[in-house]
Amino acid sequence: MILSIISAIANNNEIGKKNDLLWNLPIDMKHFKETTSGHPVIMGQRTFESLGIGPDGKPGKPLPNRRNIVLTLDKEFKREGIEVYYGIEKLEKELNETMGKEEEAFIIGGGQIYKLFIDKADRLYITHVDANFPDADTLFPAIDQSKWKITFEDKHEKDEKNIYDVNFIIYEKIKSA
Ligand SMILES: NC(=O)c1ccc[n+]([C@@H]2O[C@H](COP(=O)([O-])OP(=O)(O)OC[C@H]3O[C@@H](n4cnc5c(N)ncnc54)[C@H](OP(=O)(O)O)[C@@H]3O)[C@@H](O)[C@H]2O)c1
Repeated sequence: MILSIISAIANNNEIGKKNDLLWNLPIDMKHFKETTSGHPVIMGQRTFESLGIGPDGKPGKPLPNRRNIVLTLDKEFKREGIEVYYGIEKLEKELNETMGKEEEAFIIGGGQIYKLFIDKADRLYITHVDANFPDADTLFPAIDQSKWKITFEDKHEKDEKNIYDVNFIIYEKIKSA
């Protein structure tokens, strides 16, 4: 399995505030959908609940065309259309057993879950958003440039629909010899 992280981060690693995103960038929504569709997506309970109201009328709307996996420490937590894991060891075991070597799974947030997985991931899909949000309450963990190499870069200038410049970067983990 290839374990990837996907996130959109501002200049100081800001990713969220009050359990919501800091921007509305259709270009990044499209990138997220195209990159993750058809693959399992793994998220924390808070990010899941930020996705809208689900088919059961409760907070948390599963993303279509993807296996939705939600991490929580709350043993009572259950929702329609998702798989729930109560810790990362069982989840890692299950993914390693059921996914092929070349199959890719995506960690999609938020801050707590990125922190749990950044040292385990093989690849990072980071949308760098050229903006500052001093009042953000959730950050992406620092990307240690000595551990990652950039393999892809695609810059887009702001336009009428996307109010910030963005740079889509893929980082691959540098394999130690
Ligand atoms: N910019 C981006 O790309 C992006 C992407 C995703 C999310 N976000 C933003 O990030 C923010 C949410 O992030 P967050 O850090 O507050 O929450 P989160 O990482 O989405 O979820 C945290 C929850 O995960 C569960 N959890 C934590 N550690 C666990 C473990 N070891 N095993 C099992 N479950 C565990 C806990 O759920 P319980 O409390 O239920 O136990 C915890 O409350 C929002 O503002 C969201 O909009 C931004």
